[in-house]
Amino acid sequence: MVAKRRVLLIVSGGIAAYKCLDLVRRLGERGFAVRTVMTKAAERFVTPLSFGALTNERVFTDLFDLDEEREIGHIRLARDTDLIVVAPATADIIAKMAGGHANDLATAVLLATDKPVLVAPAMNPRMWANPATQRNVRQLRADGIHFVGPASGEMAERGEAGTGRLVEVPELIEAIERLAMPESAAQSGALAGRHVLITAGPTHEPIDPVRYIANRSSGKQGYEIAAAAAQLGARVTLVSGPVTLTPPPGVETIRVVTAAEMLEAVSKALPADIGVFAAAVADWRLAQPKPEKIKKSAGGAAPTFKLAENPDILRTVATRQTDRPTLIVGFAAETEDVLAHAKKKLKSKGADWIVANDVSPETGIMGGDHNTVHLVTAAGVENWPNMSKCDVAARLVERIAQHLDQLRPKRTAAE
Ligand SMILES: Cc1cc2nc3c(=O)[nH]c(=O)nc-3n(C[C@H](O)[C@H](O)[C@H](O)COP(=O)(O)O)c2cc1C
Repeated sequence: MVAKRRVLLIVSGGIAAYKCLDLVRRLGERGFAVRTVMTKAAERFVTPLSFGALTNERVFTDLFDLDEEREIGHIRLARDTDLIVVAPATADIIAKMAGGHANDLATAVLLATDKPVLVAPAMNPRMWANPATQRNVRQLRADGIHFVGPASGEMAERGEAGTGRLVEVPELIEAIERLAMPESAAQSGALAGRHVLITAGPTHEPIDPVRYIANRSSGKQGYEIAAAAAQLGARVTLVSGPVTLTPPPGVETIRVVTAAEMLEAVSKALPADIGVFAAAVADWRLAQPKPEKIKKSAGGAAPTFKLAENPDILRTVATRQTDRPTLIVGFAAETEDVLAHAKKKLKSKGADWIVANDVSPETGIMGGDHNTVHLVTAAGVENWPNMSKCDVAARLVERIAQHLDQLRPKRTAAE
C-alpha cells in the first residue's frame, strides 16, 4: 500500500488565507493527510473550525497549549510530516523565518523541522518589493527553503496590481506534489539504489594568491538537481565549485575550487549510474599562476598571461573505458546559436543528453531563479517553457528516472 503523503500547512495572517480552505479540500481529494497550524493573525481571517472541518483533524494554534505539548508538541508536529507548506506566507512570517525566530507555534515548528519547507508568499506588491522582504527571501532560499510564487496581477486592495498575489491553488498543489515525498517512497523512489553524480557552480582559477579567473555561475540549477535526485531516493554526490548555497539535505557535497580539483573529485566519486555535469567549468587557467601577489609597477605595462586549457570533465567522463555512467547529461550555456552549439556538444563530448540554455545577460538566467532550457538528445530537441530552476530540476530527474526504467534490469553502481 502506498503511504499517505503528509502535509503540515501553516496559515499566516494574510487576506489570501481563505484560498487555503480550497487548498486543503483539494489536497484531501488527492489523498494527502493535512494538518493545519494557524498563527494568531490567521485566525482573524479564517476560523480554525473551517480548517478543522475540511481536514478532519484538530487545528493547532498555541505553542503553550499543555495538552498539545503532552500529546503532540511542536517538535512532533515539525517531524511527523513529509512537507511543511506556509501558505499564505506573510511578510512577517518570512522575516521571522529568516531571523530564526520561534515565538509562536508556527515559527517554533518551522525552526524545529528537518523536512522540506515550501513557502507561498502573499502580500501587497510594495511589501514584496521592499528590500527587507527581498533580503529575507534570499536568505531563506540560501537556507534551502523552496518558494512558489508570488504571482502577478490584481491585488485584493482595489486598484492595486503587481507581484505579490498567492499563486493559484493548482500551481500550489503542483509544487506540493513535487516536494511531498514520503520517507518510505524516497527509499523505494524512482531513483532508489542509483548513484547520481552532479557537478555545479563555477570554478576559480588562480592568477596569484589573491586573484582568480571566474564566471557568473551561481550553482543554483545544479543544487536543485541534486535536491530533486535525492528526493527520488538516489544516493547523490554533488561536486561543487565555490558558491554561497547551502547543500541540499541528504546529499554528499564535496567542495572544490579549480577545474583540476573538480575532475579529481568527480573521478574519485565514480562509479555512478548517472552523471549530470551542470558546473560552469572554466575553459582556461593560467599556465603558471604566480606564487606571490603581482605588483602594479608605476607607469609599467599591464601584465600579460599565458593561458592553458583546462581538463574537459564532461568529455573525460563520457569517454571513459570503464566506469562510464549509464546516462551522461551535460549542460551547454551559450549566448548565441544555443541549439546549434548544443547539438555539436552532444556529439563532440560523447554525452547522452545536453541541457542547453541561453545565458545572455538579458535572460537573467545566470544567477537567477528561473531557466528556459532545451533538452537535446539523439532523438531530437525538446523546448521546455520558462520554469523555476526547481521545476527544471524536478522535470529533468523525472525524465532521467523514466529513461533508466526503460533500460531495465536495474543495475546499481555498487554491484
Ligand atoms: C486586512 C489585513 C490584511 C492583511 N493582509 C496581509 C497580506 O496579504 N500579507 C501580509 O504579509 N500581511 C498582511 N497583513 C498584515 C499581517 O496580518 C500582519 O503582519 C501580522 O502580524 C502577520 O502575522 P503572522 O505572520 O504571525 O500571521 C494584513 C493585515 C490586515 C489587517
